[in-house]
Amino acid sequence: MDKVEIVEVGPRDGLQNIGSLVPTAAKIDFIRRLAAAGIKRMEIGSFVSPKAIPQMSDMDEVVAGLGPLPGLRAMALVPNSKGARRAVAAGLTELIFVISMSEAHNMSNVRRPVEASIEDFRLTLAEIDPDKRLHIRVGLATTFHCPFDGVMDEEQVLRTIHKIARLRDGLEFALSDTTGMALPGHVGRVARRCIAEFGDTASWAFHGHDTAGFGIANVLAAFEAGVACFDSSAAGIGGCPFAPGATGNIATEDLAYLFARMGVATGIDLAKLMDAADLAASFSDTPTGSHALAMPRARLLSPNGVAAAC
Ligand code: COA
Ligand code: ZN
Repeated sequence: MDKVEIVEVGPRDGLQNIGSLVPTAAKIDFIRRLAAAGIKRMEIGSFVSPKAIPQMSDMDEVVAGLGPLPGLRAMALVPNSKGARRAVAAGLTELIFVISMSEAHNMSNVRRPVEASIEDFRLTLAEIDPDKRLHIRVGLATTFHCPFDGVMDEEQVLRTIHKIARLRDGLEFALSDTTGMALPGHVGRVARRCIAEFGDTASWAFHGHDTAGFGIANVLAAFEAGVACFDSSAAGIGGCPFAPGATGNIATEDLAYLFARMGVATGIDLAKLMDAADLAASFSDTPTGSHALAMPRARLLSPNGVAAAC
């Protein structure tokens, strides 16, 4: 593959787990800087209960304040039909339904069994998108590892994905390592099976966290299996508040730098992306997991990693 898509999830996955509330204007600035760096698709937030995730309580203001951003596909995560209705009313046309592959995490995250989430998804699709005009992604949380039950059973996960995929052709699925504990062999195996079993009826993304330091190895395992779409967050901020012990996403700048060095096109301007990563790092008091942020900037931005100044 000579090109991949990097989907920025910092404004949602990144900011949802930050202790202090980031002001709406700073969120908008963050999203604009990311778009200016060449990010073409972004998870700009979530329409969730403000009691569950207070950091996302200003979503309507964020969408209204952003206005149209030509060339950017804005997506929002929704946990239920109410969230989906709110997202559509705000004018979004790309939604991410989150459904966990593990019962225990689904209960903790959205307070209902997996079957109930699937049924809500079915009813919601029929209600909000009978003409199939929306782009729908399903975020398959805990595909590989659950914070409560440990390593997930592949057969059970595949069965659940088949159940969801039967509801509509053309769904995009994000195989999500919510806890950042997956092993590359596991990621590669599941990605390969999904691509083979579903053919053209679905498309696949990998959404990774970096808790155990396997994040980039997992991206490469998914890439080698044929996945061409990867989620990451600027400065590697964030994580799921309902997955105890999980840390931030893979850093977008680390992914952009890796693919640039590999000669795989992402369409991202790394120097401009570092601008957004600097801002993202300033949102959080905890140290960032980003390698690119820790590198001398001149070396990072020089061809082949050579910099006379370093
Ligand atoms: N947006 C805003 N408010 C919502 C909502 C949504 N999507 N869904 C439910 N609510 C409100 C209800 O209207 C109700 O409000 P009220 O107390 O004023 O009457 C209240 O929340 C409780 O509703 P209920 O359906 O009983 O939800 P719950 O308390 O069982 O919570 C979720 C379920 C899904 C709403 C909640 O767990 C949630 O938002 N989780 C988000 C998880 C997440 O984002 N995780 C990180 C990403 S993986
Ligand atoms: Zn995540």
